[in-house]
Amino acid sequence: MANVKIHTFDAVIVGAGGAGLMAALYASRNANVAVLSKLYPTRSHTGAAQGGVGAALGNMEEDHWEWHAFDTVKGSDYLADQDAVDILCKDAIDVVIELEHMGLPFDRFPNGRISQRRFGGHTNNETKKPVMRACHAADRTGHMILQTLYQQCIKNKVNFFDEFHVVDLIRVDDTIRGVVAIEIATGEFHIFHSKAVMFATGGWGRCWQVTSNAHSLTGDGAAICLRRGVPLEDMEFFQFHPTGIFKLGILITEGVRGEGGVLLNSQGERFMEKYAPTIKDLASRDVVSRAIYLEVKAGRGINGKNYVHLDITPETVNHYFEKEGEKRRIDREYIEAKLPDIADFTRTYLGVDPVKEPMPVQPTAHYAMGGIPTDVEGRVVLDADNTPLPGLYAAGEAACVSVHGANRLGTNSLTDLVVFGRRAGKHMAEYCQTAVLQPLPDDAADEIMAEFERIRNNEGHAKMFDVRNQMQTTMTEGVSVFRTEETVSTTLEELKKLRTEYKSVAIQDKGKIFNSDLLETWELGCLLELAEVTTISALARKESRGGHARDDYPERDDDNWLKHTLCYKVGPGEYRLDYKPVTLGRYEPKPRVY
Ligand code: FUM
Repeated sequence: MANVKIHTFDAVIVGAGGAGLMAALYASRNANVAVLSKLYPTRSHTGAAQGGVGAALGNMEEDHWEWHAFDTVKGSDYLADQDAVDILCKDAIDVVIELEHMGLPFDRFPNGRISQRRFGGHTNNETKKPVMRACHAADRTGHMILQTLYQQCIKNKVNFFDEFHVVDLIRVDDTIRGVVAIEIATGEFHIFHSKAVMFATGGWGRCWQVTSNAHSLTGDGAAICLRRGVPLEDMEFFQFHPTGIFKLGILITEGVRGEGGVLLNSQGERFMEKYAPTIKDLASRDVVSRAIYLEVKAGRGINGKNYVHLDITPETVNHYFEKEGEKRRIDREYIEAKLPDIADFTRTYLGVDPVKEPMPVQPTAHYAMGGIPTDVEGRVVLDADNTPLPGLYAAGEAACVSVHGANRLGTNSLTDLVVFGRRAGKHMAEYCQTAVLQPLPDDAADEIMAEFERIRNNEGHAKMFDVRNQMQTTMTEGVSVFRTEETVSTTLEELKKLRTEYKSVAIQDKGKIFNSDLLETWELGCLLELAEVTTISALARKESRGGHARDDYPERDDDNWLKHTLCYKVGPGEYRLDYKPVTLGRYEPKPRVY
């Protein structure tokens, strides 16, 4: 292993978003922990989560964790594992208070308690009306979670390796021995030799053209696990958030609708009244995204284009409040205080002042419900019997525990990060107490170093950004809000061609220092594989459920499809599907009515 620097820790956490930092904080109390991130930690994508973290605190009106659990299961179209959902919703309350005690600057109600707002799919289970459950710090909740946890980790002397890009997992049979990383500044390879590894690397929204995801969301952790024999679960379920900025995809928080904003078509109709008569604009995201798509298809997009309006102007909102007998009114000051970031984004990127005019929005690829399968302790599991792979953990969006099933409720991503990040961190530290550090194989880094040399020296004809554009185009055309056998099959054929094309990608920068050309090409390989797994999983599932809406199989089919998909990589370009049962509980699957 000449030219490779070796570091030794009990545990290595890959990714410094909310899940990685929460796990690091807990694991570092009993183990020697390193956090590796390809970014500076506070630039992690958790910082882009705006509207709130879901927890049934009941600070302003009656609420119960069981109501939160029911909404989560219903929102998931009954595909979530109900044991995990119970943990999510029960622990949410305690973990939000813990964050408050760490110093997270939540907004406050006049009574001094943490401010909560309404969000899609979160209801009073008795009246079926929206309930205030999203605990928030203006519209910067994820940003505040990230800053708070990072400060706590620094205080706790967690070892950070910033701008270290993890590119491989060292697995020998059924033991985990660490990871291989590239130091971005120097291009040097490093091995982090450890007893345990956790992937908290986020999602892969960059498979699509219009996405709320940052450039760094390339699914590295999920792709690495797939290559090292771990199946990926429920990959066909990818969430399209209804309100991305038109063309740009940048998120406009659901908190806008939580504060009273409404969606309008070209005829000025509040069209969600048709699709979800009780909960309207606050139906779950799959329902709202489909409604926008159908309005556009029916020719009611604004100016004949594929977007609608999101209106938070006081005039419109107060009109609907009055119509619905709600006493409160909003004004400019309220909007500026509760939604400062989105006001800033739309003024900056669109020249639209949301206090005065509606915002143009369209569905944007937002969140992977599927991912690396884990149990409720964050341990990665390998099969339909949930057999854990000792020493390997995953949490956050990269993982599939599965609390979101076929569709995630807004705010539950932040809840998932902190609840299951904490559990995984605790479990990992316990594991490290008894586990023995296994020796490193001599060739631990050889395979991945050879792949990087292949990319660096390739003299092919293809360009990385062309292949990436073609992947994003075909995924958008074929595996989007709606899909059919024909669209998905066409995309799959295209992806197979792109897989071959990828082997011919030549890069211009042959150097070592900050070689983004090289790293982005490697990331593209991850995206292409995840796109293929998504497509294969989507082609096989012949029903519509949550984020997977098949026009050719429009009904949910519990008799045949109330099960999780597992997709294994069995060879270059070869995949095998398997399925595992959903863990049911108090809630029997029922048709969803909003
Ligand atoms: O709409 C939002 O603020 C996004 C939150 C989420 O994805 O949970």
